[in-house]
Amino acid sequence: MTLQIVIGTQWGDEGKGRFVDLLSAKADVVARFAGGDNAGHTIRIGDEVYKLHLIPSGLIYPQTVGVIGSGTVVNPSVLLHEMESLRGAGVIVNQNRLKISYAAHMITPAHLALDRAREASLGKARIGTTVRGIGPAYIDKARRSGVQYHDLLDMDYFKQRLTQSLENANRELTLLYGAEPVDIVAVMEEYLSYAEILAPHIADTSALVLDALEAGKHVIAEGAQGALLDIDHGSYPYVTSSSCVAANALVGLGIGMPDELSVVGIVKTFQTRVGSGPFPTELEGETASMLRGDGTQQWDEFGTTTGRPRRIGWLDGMLLKRVVRMNGVTELGLTKLDVLSGIAEIQFCTDYKPSEGMISPLLARKVVEPVYETFQGWDEDIMDITRWEDLPQNAQRYVNAIEAYCGVPVRWISVGPERSQVIYR
Ligand code: GDP
Ligand code: IMO
Ligand code: MG
Repeated sequence: MTLQIVIGTQWGDEGKGRFVDLLSAKADVVARFAGGDNAGHTIRIGDEVYKLHLIPSGLIYPQTVGVIGSGTVVNPSVLLHEMESLRGAGVIVNQNRLKISYAAHMITPAHLALDRAREASLGKARIGTTVRGIGPAYIDKARRSGVQYHDLLDMDYFKQRLTQSLENANRELTLLYGAEPVDIVAVMEEYLSYAEILAPHIADTSALVLDALEAGKHVIAEGAQGALLDIDHGSYPYVTSSSCVAANALVGLGIGMPDELSVVGIVKTFQTRVGSGPFPTELEGETASMLRGDGTQQWDEFGTTTGRPRRIGWLDGMLLKRVVRMNGVTELGLTKLDVLSGIAEIQFCTDYKPSEGMISPLLARKVVEPVYETFQGWDEDIMDITRWEDLPQNAQRYVNAIEAYCGVPVRWISVGPERSQVIYR
């Protein structure tokens, strides 16, 4: 049984989608295990750019089956839209290729309204969510008032569950936030119309993934968000509402420990974050602007889901090392080495002042001063390089330092967004 779990090691947007696509060349099943359309995964093949929020990035390769697992929360309207847009780009999306777990939870317009109302009520203390209804949908799941996809297969039960969920939300919207309630009749009508289209895709995906693993097939578990956004181990409360660490791939897909496992940690060569929360190595000024880009390049640092400019900083080795250990990362995939071209001096955070025991409180609120090791940069455009030995010496030094610091091999180095722009080591 071979399972390859791909996770983000930072605050999201490390390039997971790009890597899952790359690794899917040899995959049979590619499965999302948590989160919802708060994720935005961009893949570039030739001149074609695919932006995926829910559908696993591996689906672009024609031999794969995509699974949206039990641990996810799925907005059916976003899903249908994404299915259509992929079809428009020539990808075959049918009931044989795309499976939704019967246990996945459904996001409703009331969850979006609640997300918006909560964020507004928090004022300056807001989380900076993607306002996709993720938190409220997971709250509904935890308090056992959520709607699952298999409910769609029994109309009477579905109506009962959806009504209960919407009525709860409307009470909260009006009484707690003084907001407009959602129109239950209109939502019901809209959601009933999805049943016929989505029903053929609903499956026991736990059994599907287990069957694949037992048959010796190659299964990729596609992480969304990043480990520092994990609800238990991230920078709480500035986190998402699901678990984004590697261990949750097993829970979110409904499988046991596989015989063979690799955990691929995706690391961007610098650090970014959207939304609020601590960010010890955050940068402002010219270097931050250079790393962010001005929005003219497809890969510039503006949110795929929200369009917000991402906060920028130097790579934080302290957090990375902790994430690598906690997730049992076995190999690293580096992204955006090319974006560092032209930066005279690159800083890599290797410690904090004060150092002892600061990591977990730091994630929540403490301000620490990063201690940096400085690396000389390079000016060459490296986007066409495909061999390690052709990289400028200074780029090699920086990559080697990350590898030595984390104690895990850097197996792939991405030097551009396109599928082929990668160096294998
Ligand atoms: P994800 O959420 O982790 O999948 O990452 P996103 O797709 O949100 O953000 C990563 C962005 O960087 C996308 O626009 C990718 O096309 C782009 N990208 C990925 N790897 C590289 C790389 O090595 N170089 C450059 N220039 N862009 C990259
Ligand atoms: P991918 O998969 C970056 C962040 C939001 C916010 C916090 C909570 O593309 O890496 P939520 O809407 O989940 O309740 O927001 O989490 N966030 C992400 N940031 N990339 C993502 O996904 C994210 N998904 C959620 O910006 O700070
Ligand atoms: Mg993203």
